[in-house]
Amino acid sequence: MTSKPRTMLITSALPYANGPIHLGHLVEYIQTDIWARFQRLCGNHAIYVCAEDAHGTPIMLKARNENIAPETLIERIGTEHRRDFSDFNIAFDNYYTTHSEENRYFAEYIFEQLSTNGHITKRTITQAFDPVEQMFLPDRFIRGSCPRCDAPDQNGDNCEVCGATYVPTDLTDPVSVISGATPVSKNSEHYFVQLADFDGMLREWTGSDRLQSEVRNKLAEWFDAGLRDWDISRDAPYFGFEIPGSNDKFFYVWLDAPIGYMASFRNLCDKSDLDFDSFWGKDAKTELYHFVGKDILYFHTLFWPALLHGGGFRTPTAVFTHGFLTINGQKMSKSRGTFITARAYLDHLEPDCLRYYFAARLNNRVEDIDFNVDDFVSRVNSDLVGKVVNIASRCAGFIEKRFSGQLSARLPDPALYQHFVDANQVICNAYEGREFSRAIREIMALADQANQYINACQPWVIARDENRDGELQAICTQGLNLFRILMIWLAPVVPALAERSAAFLRCPIGENGTLGNIPSPLTDHQIEPFNRLLNRIELRDAQAMMDQTQMIEQIEEPAASTTHLIDEPVAEQITIDEFAKIDLRIARVSSAETVEGADRLLRLTLDLGGETRQVFAGIKAAYAPDALVGRHVIVVANLAPRKMRFGVSAGMILAASGDDDAGGIFLIEPNQGAEPGMRVR
Ligand code: 2FM
Ligand code: ZN
Repeated sequence: MTSKPRTMLITSALPYANGPIHLGHLVEYIQTDIWARFQRLCGNHAIYVCAEDAHGTPIMLKARNENIAPETLIERIGTEHRRDFSDFNIAFDNYYTTHSEENRYFAEYIFEQLSTNGHITKRTITQAFDPVEQMFLPDRFIRGSCPRCDAPDQNGDNCEVCGATYVPTDLTDPVSVISGATPVSKNSEHYFVQLADFDGMLREWTGSDRLQSEVRNKLAEWFDAGLRDWDISRDAPYFGFEIPGSNDKFFYVWLDAPIGYMASFRNLCDKSDLDFDSFWGKDAKTELYHFVGKDILYFHTLFWPALLHGGGFRTPTAVFTHGFLTINGQKMSKSRGTFITARAYLDHLEPDCLRYYFAARLNNRVEDIDFNVDDFVSRVNSDLVGKVVNIASRCAGFIEKRFSGQLSARLPDPALYQHFVDANQVICNAYEGREFSRAIREIMALADQANQYINACQPWVIARDENRDGELQAICTQGLNLFRILMIWLAPVVPALAERSAAFLRCPIGENGTLGNIPSPLTDHQIEPFNRLLNRIELRDAQAMMDQTQMIEQIEEPAASTTHLIDEPVAEQITIDEFAKIDLRIARVSSAETVEGADRLLRLTLDLGGETRQVFAGIKAAYAPDALVGRHVIVVANLAPRKMRFGVSAGMILAASGDDDAGGIFLIEPNQGAEPGMRVR
């Protein structure tokens, strides 16, 4: 804290301007915002910028479907995004768009530098072309039958049934998703960045301490495989920037997206006295950090530093990568009813609660984190409300009523106060190293100690004796001072609660440099009357959010209730206790029928030995309903019921999926003798 303040520019990945912000996005914005706020709390000059990622085919097509100009679409989505971010207290210093003149300028400038220095090459390539729409088709806009298992209506690059990966031209009977026409092959000249030209520079850049070790290992694999030329152009029609000197070619969205970080900062410079070159110039002394998800690593650790270096700019100080979010242990997906939008959350719950929950789960590794609704409710209630806010509410009433809001002149237990002050370094180190869950553990352990102090002093007993007023005031002053330190540490995580606490204590809490105030207690100081700082979360509100999510989003048929392990790495380890939470039971299929309007589902009635359940299973491709009646299956009996378009599914049956031609789905059946209701362990 005594060292010279640092100056840094921090970014989060730019959200695409074609869909709502959801909880998966928020992991990153909240992680970044906490880190940026922590830096400011230390007194560092931290600038946090972001923007809409406005270009590309999906945005162009979505606008076309809505019969509006892409500019109108990105404007509308941008407004929604800004509102979501602001309601979650994501404190950007600037939020801009990649569809801006600043961004065009830097994209063209970097391209020109790369061309002048011989890093761009042109080559003719063959791609799928939609003859009706007169446009080249990205892989995801082509569907057809799997070349391996013949499953119909598969993606252009992988089969959801057998797990095969391939290129769109391998599909049998391919169709364009846009027009339904059969694509034809067509040649076109494209521009490529010769990434291998930057091999040495990139190895050096990634070799230092700027990346997590898992990320460095991944990069080593990419280097070993050899860096391939990167196609940075797309043919018209395309929503983006036209490549200067080209014939109707546009920069690929992923070229100008990271350049959007610079453009947003440039735009901020024009509104303030910040100097662009001291942040982006080749010899800039300031720090530059990017927070990104693990899916966009290649872009940020290879393409982006190469573009910056080739354009004559500085390279990032570090790239911080996080994992994905699962919801109640499941991938976020609309069809599973686990696609929780920022707005659905805000309709029912406080932003600080999610910020706290994510902080309590985040570390500095590239691990997925889970949003478990029950755990979320109990964690927030027991920590924030039950421990931290409780300290204030136990002390504030006495100070207000008996001492007119006046704190005592001295602390009765300076050693305990000092013990808190001494913890500052450990907590700051955890924040600085993005080990937020560790910071939260340390802070909550101290909150426990503060509560123990109050328990031991029993101010409610002392309050009965008027001769002990001085003692009562001092104890409550001590308690409120401990609360104040806890809130200063928590301010980056729960800014709204910090603001209410600051107003109550009439002292700075989340402001720039406030960490430096920790060693000096608040004594002989007037505070405000206490109002409830944070309400407990009601499970029914969290449930209402989930219900809203499932009702609104449940318009698609859910995926088969089978899991592909082929070509998929084994999932993260779980403990025996975690496994024991899954209640697997033997069930007998008492009836099975097809479901009107569903291509993959069968409706099963299961007898679990006294209890009857309806379960939908995605096994229609492999099993005729009649063949199932009377068979024994294994069912996940304690899976939360899922509302589906066709009714409620109360459980899931276990099946394996393989690369067999005959549908590739295999029910797991117990050996003879197992009875309905028996537990599988
Ligand atoms: O993956 C995505 O959502 C992209 N819109 C992220 C872009 S980050 C940066 F490079 F612009
Ligand atoms: Zn297949």
